[in-house]
Amino acid sequence: MEKKITLHDKTFKMYIPNEDIEKAIDTVAAQMNRDFAGSTDSNAPIMICTLNGAVLYAAELLKRLDFPVEFKAMKLSSYEGTHSTGKVKAELPAALGDLRGKTVIVVEDIVDTGNTIVAMKDILEGMGVEKIIISTLLLKPEVYKKDVKLDYVALRIPNRFIVGFGLDYNELGRNIKDIYVLDQ
Ligand code: IMP
Ligand code: MG
Repeated sequence: MEKKITLHDKTFKMYIPNEDIEKAIDTVAAQMNRDFAGSTDSNAPIMICTLNGAVLYAAELLKRLDFPVEFKAMKLSSYEGTHSTGKVKAELPAALGDLRGKTVIVVEDIVDTGNTIVAMKDILEGMGVEKIIISTLLLKPEVYKKDVKLDYVALRIPNRFIVGFGLDYNELGRNIKDIYVLDQ
């Protein structure tokens, strides 16, 4: 029988099992390990996890990386319920410290309209970051029409609302280890 869960008023069905997510992260981590093989302590890139959704992806990715890398986080939000509000709220960019001349790897849970990624890029450019690299666990290619290059995409999905592995529906579902899709 198909596995289903209920969060608030909505039912979701099993979509991407944890082992497929982990395999996709293995592939991205292997690519990054090749691309950053020359990284040293003095030019270590800074991974910036977008809170809250990317926290599980960032943790899984980070532990697979074998080059010197720093880790920070920044809170951004644009979703209410199951839809994007179109406005991105950013909290505490100052807590990131001095990023002038640095290479930053942005770690995002999912790129949908791309508003979050564009806002993040603007903030980081404004802080003097030299090189911005974007990594996302998931991408909805049918929705994403911005021209910011996505350097690492682990999984591509159709335009459906999903939860699990860090992603939420009104703050619930982040703790589910598989990804579930809205059942309708
Ligand atoms: P964007 O700014 O429209 O690209 O949306 C990005 C943010 O919206 C992501 O970081 C998620 O937090 C949230 N989001 C987009 N699609 C989904 C989804 O299917 N489930 C849960 N959150 C989503
Ligand atoms: Mg997010």
